[in-house]
Amino acid sequence: MATPSFSSLAAKRTLFLLSAICLLLAPTARATDVKYCDAKANYAVKVEGIKITPDPVIAGKQATFAISASTAEAISGGEVLLEVYLFGFSVHSETRDLCEDIACPIPAGDFLLSHSQSLPGFTPPGSYNLKMTIKNSKQQQLTCVSFNFSVSWWALVADY
Ligand SMILES: *[C@@H]1O[C@H](CO)[C@@H](O)[C@H](O)[C@H]1NC(C)=O
Repeated sequence: MATPSFSSLAAKRTLFLLSAICLLLAPTARATDVKYCDAKANYAVKVEGIKITPDPVIAGKQATFAISASTAEAISGGEVLLEVYLFGFSVHSETRDLCEDIACPIPAGDFLLSHSQSLPGFTPPGSYNLKMTIKNSKQQQLTCVSFNFSVSWWALVADY
């Protein structure tokens, strides 16, 4: 005799597994952990948080990194150095004009630096690390932070 309880248990398990997978893949706006490159340094610019949209980032689609930070002194200009690592290997590095992503001068206080970029479609999915250094126009380091982000392929993300 077939035991109906067994198949119902299996169905429940499958359902649980499916919802767990959906939770893992849902592009939710969770906060990303940010670390200062040098935990002991007293950076002039404090970074409060980073929001990545979508999260995970989709290869071939535009991704936005919004950094909320605060500065004690006004910043007239400078540059942003972005370094991207995959499994500890540098895969991309670029230097941008700070004033391209935010209106300069940046007055003292809180500010939001938002940078949008499309990742190439062949970007391998995985866990990446991004290191961001901000320098002022005198080449003095104002801050340096690093955070992790994941890259997915479009086909893996349902209902985006
Ligand atoms: C990023 O991930 C690595 C490896 O899992 C971990 O050691 C590191 O602390 C993470 N960095 C941040 C900023 O969370």
